[in-house]
This record gives sequence, structure tokens and C-alpha cells, in this order.
Amino acid sequence: MSNARAPATDGPDGTEGPLHVAIIMDGNGRWAAARGLPRAEGHRRGVDALRRVVQASHELGIRYLTIFSFSAENWSRPATEIGDLFGLLRRFIRNDLATLHRDGVRVRVIGERQGLEVDICALLEEAEQLTRHNTRLDLIVAFNYGSRQEIAAAAQRLAREVAEGRRDPASIDADALSRYLDAPEIPDPDLIIRTSGEQRLSNFLMWQAAYSELVFVPIHWPDFDKAALEGAIAEFARRERRFGGLIAKTGS
Ligand code: FPP
Repeated sequence: MSNARAPATDGPDGTEGPLHVAIIMDGNGRWAAARGLPRAEGHRRGVDALRRVVQASHELGIRYLTIFSFSAENWSRPATEIGDLFGLLRRFIRNDLATLHRDGVRVRVIGERQGLEVDICALLEEAEQLTRHNTRLDLIVAFNYGSRQEIAAAAQRLAREVAEGRRDPASIDADALSRYLDAPEIPDPDLIIRTSGEQRLSNFLMWQAAYSELVFVPIHWPDFDKAALEGAIAEFARRERRFGGLIAKTGS
């Protein structure tokens, strides 16, 4: 994700829709607590919501969908909950990979692989390999992902090149750093949605979000559906994106 300005799609109603939507899927625990259910049930229903949103993304002409599945900071949760989340990822890939592939989805995974269990790494690799030539929708799964860590790793690579005499420090600019982020070929998100009413990025795509429109919706992730996605896209369409420039005036 390296372009400050991503092109937008033709939305279903003729308006310009977002090409790349990124989602912070928040509120699984609160959804479960409100129903007297275990948190794991909230996460399980969160996977159902994810399936709905992948399907809706096809229908709404979204080309890239990034989801925040497990943050680098989620390791501070109880081991049982971490186990539940890893179990859901395993099941999601085992059960849904064939369908995703059939539907033309290319799976990309961003985040730190080191320290993950070997079978999880193998599944992530399998998903990326099987779907690598698909072109209908890129599903970018942020797993064990943290934006600060991603930027620090890119800075480290640049520093190493300078130390080894392979790079002039003056050549380090935003584009150079972008090229060392986890998925440099993916355009920056046009729209970032966070569910459950929290209004922050929580270490998600902070570099790439420079010109993203942020939409915060009050509903918890397990309740998110196509209508909620359409609502967020309608809000996006009402925003005026200037990318640091002036408002485009017609007829002048
Ligand atoms: C936030 O809810 C959600 C997460 C930490 C994980 C998101 C994971 C899923 C939707 C399911 C897993 C998906 C895959 C592909 C493995 P929270 O637990 O922070 O909710 P709370 O803030 O209400 O406690």
C-alpha cells in the first residue's frame, strides 16, 4: 500500500465508490456480553459477518478489502482467547479457502509471521499461493499486524542499505519507505471503517491512512452486514476528498 491517492470505482448508484475498503472489526466481545454469551461466540459470529462482507464487497465493486484480524497488541489477551482467535483463522482458511478461490479472491496476508505457529504460517502461505493469480477481489488479512512495527521494519531495511553503502540517505523519501511496507503494490485505503463506536486507528495502517476517509459506525462487528457497508460507503460519497489540494470547482 503505497499510493497516496487510490483511484475510486463506479459505485452501484453511479457515484464514485471506494476501490479499497479497510475494516477494524471491533465489538465482538461487547456483542457477546450483551447477550450473556462467551466472547468466543462473538468472534465466531464475527467470522460470519466477515463472510457477508466479502460477498457484499463483490456486489459493490470493491477491489481491495483489508481486515484487521489480529493485532500485534492482541497478544496481551488471555491465552484462551488468543487460542480461540487462532482456531477461527485456521477454520476460516480450511473451510472457506476453496470458495474464496472459486470467487476470484486473492488472499494477501500482512503482519509479522515470525513467532506464529508453524501450521498457521503454512495455512497463510497456502492461501496466498493458491489464490495468487485471482483478480476479482484482494482480501488483505492483517494478522499479527501493527503499523508501527511495519514502519519500523521498513526503516530498518533502509538503514541497513545505507550502512552497507548500497543507498544514499538522500534517496530516502516517502516512496522509498512505502516500497518496504508489507504490501507495497496495494493502493492505500480510500475508506477505513471501524465498528462498535470506537474512534481511533489502534495501530492499523497508519502510514497508508494519510488520506483515507474514516467512518465510525456504532454497531458491533457481528451485526455488520451489506446494508451497514452501503451506509459507510454512502457516508464516504458525501465526503470531499482533496488530498491536500483545493476543492475542485466545476465551471470555473
Ligand atoms: C475485536 O473485537 C475483534 C478482534 C480482536 C478480532 C477480529 C476477529 C474476527 C472478526 C474473527 C476472526 C477472523 C478471522 C479471519 C480469523 P473485541 O474482542 O476487541 O471486542 P470488544 O472490544 O467488544 O471486547
